[in-house]
Amino acid sequence: MITRRTALRAGVAATSIVGTGGMLLPAVTATATEPRAAAAELDVTGIAKFTQRMPLAPVLQPYLTTNTTSYYRMDLKEVSREIVPGLTTRVRTFNGSFPGPVIKAESGRRVVVRQTNSLSVPTSIHLHGAHVPQDSDGSPMDVIAPGGGSKTYTYPNTQPHANLWFHDHAHHMESENVFRGMTGTYLLTDDIERRLRLPSGSYDIPISLRDARFATTGELIYEMGDFHNRNAILANGKPWPYFEVSARKYRFRFTNTANQRFFDLRLADDSEIVQIGTDGGLLPAPHRTNTVAISPGERADVVIDFSRYPVGSTIELVNKDVAPFESADTVGKVIQFRITRSAYDNSVVPATLRTLPPLPAATVTRDFDMRMDETGSPGSQAYINGKTYDMDRIDTEIAYGATEIWTVKNSNKFAPHNFHMHLVQFRVLERNGQPVTAGSETGLKDTVPLKPGETVKLQATFTGYRGTYVYHCHLFDHGAMGMMANMRIS
Ligand code: C2O
Ligand code: CU
Ligand code: CU
Repeated sequence: MITRRTALRAGVAATSIVGTGGMLLPAVTATATEPRAAAAELDVTGIAKFTQRMPLAPVLQPYLTTNTTSYYRMDLKEVSREIVPGLTTRVRTFNGSFPGPVIKAESGRRVVVRQTNSLSVPTSIHLHGAHVPQDSDGSPMDVIAPGGGSKTYTYPNTQPHANLWFHDHAHHMESENVFRGMTGTYLLTDDIERRLRLPSGSYDIPISLRDARFATTGELIYEMGDFHNRNAILANGKPWPYFEVSARKYRFRFTNTANQRFFDLRLADDSEIVQIGTDGGLLPAPHRTNTVAISPGERADVVIDFSRYPVGSTIELVNKDVAPFESADTVGKVIQFRITRSAYDNSVVPATLRTLPPLPAATVTRDFDMRMDETGSPGSQAYINGKTYDMDRIDTEIAYGATEIWTVKNSNKFAPHNFHMHLVQFRVLERNGQPVTAGSETGLKDTVPLKPGETVKLQATFTGYRGTYVYHCHLFDHGAMGMMANMRIS
C-alpha cells in the first residue's frame, strides 16, 4: 500500500488540473512528471462511429431467493474484452461483465451480495446512493484483500425506489479500478414506481456513460488526473455504439461512471427529452427539457419518444459539454439511435410522478468549502474546508436523527467539482442563492455538480444507521488528492 500511495502522490503532481466541464487550463501533461512505459496511443478518431451495437448490461440472477432476501454472488476478476473493434482490452469486472451487471431490487426486500476479489488489487464495493449500515457501505478503508478475499454486503433496501449503482471505492485505488471497469447498476423499485405505466421491460434500458483512453494494443491507458486524453466515449462499454429502437417511448437510465467527465446530453435535433428521475428516484413531476446534464456519479432517468421519427431514420444523442481543447467529433458524440420499426405503446408519463417525503425543520447548519490547488505545480492537493482526507479523523460529528442544512461552495476558478454524501439522499434547497423549484434538482439527490464558483444549499436527515461515512468530490482523482472527509453519526 505504501508503494502504491507513494506512486499516487507522484501522480498528484500530474493532476493539479482537473475535470472537463468546459474549462480550459494550461496543459500540464502527466507524462512530463510521471514517466511510464510508453504505450503508443490509439488515435480514437480512427474508431468507426455507430458500427457496433450498444450491448445491454446483463441482469444478475440471485442464486437463492427466500421470502425476505435475494442472495447474489459476484467474482471480481480481470478479463479481456473486445471494446475497440479488432483489439482486446483487459478490464476489471464484476463476473466478467463489461458493462457491469444490473441488480434489480425491491424496497422492503433485502439483497445480500457476496463479493470475491480475484483481482490483484484490493477493492471495496460501495453501493452509491444506498441507505445501508456502515459495514456494508463499502467505505474506502473496508477493503477486500486481493487474490481471493471475500466480503458479504447486506443491503436492507428500506429506502424508496432509486437509481443506484455500485463501484469500487478502495482508498487511493478507486480511480483506477473504476476506470478499468468496476461499475454496475442497481435498480431499486417499489410500488410507487410500479404503479405508473412508464416504459418498462425491453423499453427500459440502463446506460452507463464514460470516457476512455486506449493504447494501439487495445489496452486502457490509465493516468491519474488525465482528463484531456480520455477522448473515446463509451456507452455500455462500447465506443460510440448504435442502438436500434422502435418508434415509441423508451426509458433510459443514464449513469455517469466517468472519472472526471461531465456530460450535457441532447438529441442532435434539440428535441424534447423528458427527465422523470434522478439519483434518488422519480422527480415529483416530469421535467420537459432538451438538455440533461450529469456529472460523475450522477444519474438521469429520462423518457425519449421516438414516435416523432420516421421508421428508417436515425437520431444521435450528443454531448454538448465539450471543452475548448476537445473535439465535438469525438467527445461530442455518444450514441446513434436507429428507428427500425413501429410498435404499440401503452406507456404513459403522468403529470405527477411521486410525492417527495416532507422536509423536516433543520436544526444545524454547516459550511463546506471545496478547493484544489490550481497552479499545476507538483504536490498539488485537494481540500474540503482546507483539509485533505485523513481516514482516522472525524470531520463532522452529527447527532443521530438530526436534520441539517449544508452549504457547499466550489471556491476554485477553473476546476469543476461535485459533492456526494454516503448514507443519505438529500434535497437541493438552493443553487447560487436561488431556490430550486423546478427541474432535475427537485428530486432526491446524492450527488450535485458544482461548477467553479457555485454554491448549493443541501438538506439531509441522518437517521437509520449510526457510524462513520464519507462525503467527497466524485471526480475520483480529486477524492484521491484529498477532497474527501468523514462524518460520524452517533
Ligand atoms: Cu459513488 Cu463515495 O461514491
Ligand atoms: Cu456513494
Ligand atoms: Cu472535485
